[in-house]
Amino acid sequence: MIDRFLCAVLMGLIGSSAFAAGANDVQRGRIAFLRCAACHAIQADEPGKVGPNLRGTLGKVAAQVPGFAYSEALRKAGLTWDDATLKRWVHDPASLVPGTSMTYVNTLTETETKALLAFLKSQTTAR
Ligand code: HEC
Repeated sequence: MIDRFLCAVLMGLIGSSAFAAGANDVQRGRIAFLRCAACHAIQADEPGKVGPNLRGTLGKVAAQVPGFAYSEALRKAGLTWDDATLKRWVHDPASLVPGTSMTYVNTLTETETKALLAFLKSQTTAR
């Protein structure tokens, strides 16, 4: 009886800590995004800044936000913003797309980048 009770408690703990790990990633990613927020809006209907509004861009073909003046380099790169591409972009935009107008020098660790991607996904997949 007690064993079964303990087992239920343990299962509950394991379940909730797994959930907390996911939520933590998004939370940490929100902080990592502060490095991007100087140049990127992320809320629907927020105007673009130096860079385009990122809402709705993940998983899509690059350089599609209407009215934003992308560099020719990014327009012609033919990229799709999947996880791997986005990771390379955050790590070093100019090496992925020589001639891009995103001048950003990465200071994020692997873990922070992973959290940033989780945050971006939670925010930007729907327009
Ligand atoms: C100094 C300003 C600046 C910072 C900081 C910055 N960006 Fe950018 N970003 C830009 C500009 C400008 C472009 C357009 C690039 C082009 O047209 O070549 C861009 C483009 C992008 C795109 C392509 C969007 C599309 O519509 O295809 C993504 C994704 C992106 N940035 C993500 C990020 C992330 C994530 C960070 C933070 C880690 C970040 N940026 C930091 C200026 C910035």
